[in-house]
Amino acid sequence: MGERGGEYQVGAAALGAGGEGAGAGECVSAASCRAPLTLGIETSCDETAVAVLGGGGEVLVNLVSSQVAAHAPYLGVVPEIAARHHLEALPRLLAEADRQVGLEGVGLVAVTCGPGLIGSPLVGSCFASAYAWARRLPLVGVDHLEAHLASPWLRLDGQPAQPLPEPALALVVSGGHSSYFLHRDGGVRVLNRTRDDAAGEVFDKVAAALGLGYPGGPRIDALADSGDPRAYRFSPPRIKDPRGALDFSFSGLKTAVLQAAASCGELPLATPEDPPPWVRDLLASFRRTVVDWLLAPLEELAATHRPVAVTLSGGVAANSELRRRLLAWCEKRGVQVVLAPLALTGDNAAMVARAGQLRAARGEVDDPRALRVYPRADWKGGADARGRPLFPPL
Ligand code: KG4
Ligand code: ZN
Repeated sequence: MGERGGEYQVGAAALGAGGEGAGAGECVSAASCRAPLTLGIETSCDETAVAVLGGGGEVLVNLVSSQVAAHAPYLGVVPEIAARHHLEALPRLLAEADRQVGLEGVGLVAVTCGPGLIGSPLVGSCFASAYAWARRLPLVGVDHLEAHLASPWLRLDGQPAQPLPEPALALVVSGGHSSYFLHRDGGVRVLNRTRDDAAGEVFDKVAAALGLGYPGGPRIDALADSGDPRAYRFSPPRIKDPRGALDFSFSGLKTAVLQAAASCGELPLATPEDPPPWVRDLLASFRRTVVDWLLAPLEELAATHRPVAVTLSGGVAANSELRRRLLAWCEKRGVQVVLAPLALTGDNAAMVARAGQLRAARGEVDDPRALRVYPRADWKGGADARGRPLFPPL
């Protein structure tokens, strides 16, 4: 993965240098892939991303312009700043993608149209719609979760996207979502959800209160490595509704961690750049608890659905303990595990392009003059907010 300022790229110019599964410096050219190419655009939150995939899902270019520095002073994403940044960054990233692979081979445009901070997906959707309309290209609007579900299938070594055996369980954990899904018979069903905060949101809120900066997940993950994960114990939530027995709830944990912190010292921490041992112990215990709870439904879900594979994706899928322990769980039971490549855990456009390819293969395209953009996730069964099934089969 190459890094320039706030921008990251994995693609023709940088493949092989980062992310799990990356080949040794292999370079992929558009000519080696089946045409047409797919252009992916992602602007649902605070990353502006543009990607180009070959016809089999080969990742040719994956550009991400991070806005972390712009939002960090506010300890969270400011919607207006995010939308303006997308407007400024998109033309630049598109020009760079064109320079790297040549966009004349693009035959499909895919864009995230929800859920997200409404101004942000509006910018990307308008941009993609105009691009597709001007070039008479088919356009596919993709749900952000549908895109995260597609990311474990992608490879960063220039190879086509992997086929995923079914049935498969998919854990998607991000700043806005924490859910298990079931891939079966070519479709996807939502199996559980969080009743309150998402796991990534809790990492971010705890970090903000402690003065550890934004985003909190990576910082807490790093600090937890030097702490004792058994130092603090937190009781799991009790969900009374029997239909939600496998649901997550993380807001009580956030409160408990912050109370424990407040009882040990003043918040925010006096030395957030080098926290004392008790903070590292608390963060290690917090991380272990989040992972315990995220993996808790697995046993029962596996017994019910008998998956041959389990996938992990979303920003929190970068968490080192979560990756390690899910891998161990699957190895012990002889179940295939497919972790999203590290470079594709956070928001990116490669996963958007792939989800768009899968939809287009079913003949599902959108009218660029009437693409519906929505702020909230609202799946009924396995459908997105527009009532279309999530992640349809090839
Ligand atoms: O998927 P994503 O990039 O954006 C959303 O769709 O929300 O996820 C961002 C979330 C943030 O909450 C961030 O703190 C969290 O992913 N995150 C992590 C790690 N890296 C990113 N959480 C825990 N451990 C990490 N290493
Ligand atoms: Zn996301």
